[in-house]
Amino acid sequence: MSVGTGDSADAGLYGAEEEDVCRPTDLSELLKEGTKESHNRAENTKFVRDFLKGRIQRETFKLATAALYFTYSALEEELERNKEEPAIVPLYFPQELHRKEALERDLCYFYGDAWAEAIQCSGATEAYVRRIRHLGRTRPELLVAHAYTRYMGDLSGGQILRKVAQRALHLPPTGEGIQFYVFDNVTNAQQFKQLYRARLNALDLDPETKESVVQEANHAFQFNMQVFEELDKIGTALPEAQDGGLPVHDGKGDIRKCPYYAAQQGVPGASGCPFHAAMALARLPHVQALIAAGVTAMVAFLAWYLM
Ligand code: HEM
Repeated sequence: MSVGTGDSADAGLYGAEEEDVCRPTDLSELLKEGTKESHNRAENTKFVRDFLKGRIQRETFKLATAALYFTYSALEEELERNKEEPAIVPLYFPQELHRKEALERDLCYFYGDAWAEAIQCSGATEAYVRRIRHLGRTRPELLVAHAYTRYMGDLSGGQILRKVAQRALHLPPTGEGIQFYVFDNVTNAQQFKQLYRARLNALDLDPETKESVVQEANHAFQFNMQVFEELDKIGTALPEAQDGGLPVHDGKGDIRKCPYYAAQQGVPGASGCPFHAAMALARLPHVQALIAAGVTAMVAFLAWYLM
């Protein structure tokens, strides 16, 4: 999967370090297995499930972007400060992975030039940031867990969220507002993740430290879920469709779930949702007769014109 548009990362070069054989004691395997349950829970939080269905409001998405900004600022500053640490050196990929600048661009798009004054660090984000800062000062090798949880996730499920957000919030196809999800310097996400796993496996860590990294990755998932919970609460309290956009659907499923339809229930054909309104109108017999007459007239005119 290609997630970026640039080409500074050479996928072939990365491929040279990839490993085909996995051992159960490899840190990448320990992390994948050891966080399976957490991943499952994170994927199934209400916020993420709603997001995947396109049920995200612009205001909530903006707050999520701000939460990510504070988190990645802390993570990337701590990685930078500890970039000479043996556990960090092989996983230090500022060009390919770092998200702070992309998030700044997104925040500028959503909040304008004065974005820095417009955003605040929420309670759940603050706790997450405090943990990252603490590790950066006391146990830098455990930053590996936080980098793994976020960057590997961003290169995986994050790519699905990018498409959903763009569609649900009617964001420009040119990528404004979703730069966070665009890794310009990762040409091939799958290959890059393989390289990252190989680098994780090559770290010289004893079994106890590996176990601590897995435990910390589970904490990282937990911090993320707490941020999701907070965002969900805020989103629930917001008035519906604040972004003024149309509901995201394809006309399939239960029509009663269309908020526009629900608002105007009982008035056939009068739904404010253009799709449902058009479908309801097309079902009326006299409208169908009118459509048929129109089509006949058009065909007759075309036949006369072409003769
Ligand atoms: C929107 C919901 C999500 C979906 C659909 C999703 C999907 C996926 C998929 C398909 C993979 C496998 C990629 C691969 O092996 O190449 C993956 C891996 C991963 N995801 Fe998620 N994910 C979601 C949410 C999250 C969240 C919320 C986090 C953490 C904050 C996360 C963290 C990770 C990590 C760390 C991996 C790498 C696992 C490994 O190979 O070691 N994901 N995700």
